[in-house]
Amino acid sequence: MRAFSTPPRGRRVPWQELLLAVSLLAFWNPPTTAQVTTESVPPNVVKGNDVLLRVHNLPGNILACGWFRGTTIEPSNQIISYAAHSQEIIPGATHTGRETLYYNGSLLFQNTSLEDTGDYTLQYVKINAQIERVTGQLRVFEEVGGGRVAGASLIVEGRL
Ligand SMILES: *[C@@H]1O[C@H](CO)[C@@H](O)[C@H](O)[C@H]1NC(C)=O
Ligand SMILES: *[C@@H]1O[C@H](CO)[C@@H](O)[C@H](O)[C@H]1NC(C)=O
Repeated sequence: MRAFSTPPRGRRVPWQELLLAVSLLAFWNPPTTAQVTTESVPPNVVKGNDVLLRVHNLPGNILACGWFRGTTIEPSNQIISYAAHSQEIIPGATHTGRETLYYNGSLLFQNTSLEDTGDYTLQYVKINAQIERVTGQLRVFEEVGGGRVAGASLIVEGRL
């Protein structure tokens, strides 16, 4: 009786091996394919409010990183940088006192001004000394009378 109700042990093994192989693939794939991206949260911000340039999938063990205004990497464009060996966050030439760098790479802008609109580039140095970049955009809008704002539907959707 027992032999009919319980499948022979030998038949189960291939399935268990397959499941193990699948779970190993699922475990190993994401770290090698996850792309570093950046996103403005919210996507559009009213002048005077805060906005976060959020960084997704930044490797956890980077050696250093820095944010720059625009898309060119020059000391004169540097907002802020971080060096892992000293755990130090250092303001750069274009830091206005309103930008805060988090250890996950995200950059917070407080009390935004219209001039904050534009491209921002994060450069980071990986543990293997490889240097990579990702660029994001901020869009700051003027508040129009009566609380109505240009592009209001987008702004409402993006609110935190
Ligand atoms: C990074 O940290 C900031 C501040 O704690 C947080 O608001 C943001 O969501 C974090 N970013 C990610 C991608 O987790
Ligand atoms: C926000 O920035 C404006 C100039 O753009 C300044 O006049 C104002 O005092 C700032 N507000 C705060 C709360 O820092």
